[in-house]
Amino acid sequence: MTIFRSLVVALSLASFLPVWTWAQGSVKLPKPKLTGKVAVEAAILRKKSVRNFSGGSITLEQLSQLLWACNGDLPTDAVSSATTKVIPSAGGLYPLEVFLVSGPETVTGLPAGVYQYVPASNSLTLVEAGDRRSQLAAACLSQMWMARAPVMVVIGGVFARTTAKYGNQGMQYVLIESGSAMQNLYLQAEALGLGAGAVGAFQGQQVCGVTKLPQAVTPLLVVAVGK
Ligand SMILES: Cc1cc2nc3c(=O)[nH]c(=O)nc-3n(C[C@H](O)[C@H](O)[C@H](O)COP(=O)(O)O)c2cc1C
Repeated sequence: MTIFRSLVVALSLASFLPVWTWAQGSVKLPKPKLTGKVAVEAAILRKKSVRNFSGGSITLEQLSQLLWACNGDLPTDAVSSATTKVIPSAGGLYPLEVFLVSGPETVTGLPAGVYQYVPASNSLTLVEAGDRRSQLAAACLSQMWMARAPVMVVIGGVFARTTAKYGNQGMQYVLIESGSAMQNLYLQAEALGLGAGAVGAFQGQQVCGVTKLPQAVTPLLVVAVGK
């Protein structure tokens, strides 16, 4: 086979690979789908907290969909050109930051690590390489069932973003918003044929240590997701 033909074959094979690229520790996620086959009522009906994960992996497409449902951006409003998100937010201040903890090949093609979800570019930024699932489960009062989930989503809040406008009442708003993000994650997991299990019982400082959360971010919920 000539070099030219090998190149053509390689390029056509590459078009079947997941749409992601590595650039300075950044992973571009596939575009989330804006329509689905499961009615919201059916997802609500089936929703339950899952704690018995099989150890199977999920795809990068599923991960993208889950993170988008949790804290993604909506398409920019054509009239106001404002960016809004999938969850309502007091004053439109959007205080939540979402992090991902994945294992080796637990998301097809994604190296194990702790990542920050970047909604504006629908991408992940690597925080630290390596499988931190067991350590995170240990930080959650040793709820070791979590470590069998392919991914854990850490929902964090930057309280100052909201309290700067609303004072102490802003604390309440941030907590409410984390519940919205968790519920969206539960429903999206159901719609994808996956399951989610929320965990609020954890040592905050240990979670921060394992996931290297920025100082301004307080961990509010950890959600194990998978099948
Ligand atoms: C804020 C919050 C914290 C939770 N923390 C934990 C937890 O640490 N460990 C756990 O196994 N389940 C946890 N859960 C899940 C609840 O136990 C579960 O939602 C409840 O038992 C109802 O069951 P269902 O979600 O299957 O309907 C939590 C749920 C919420 C909303």
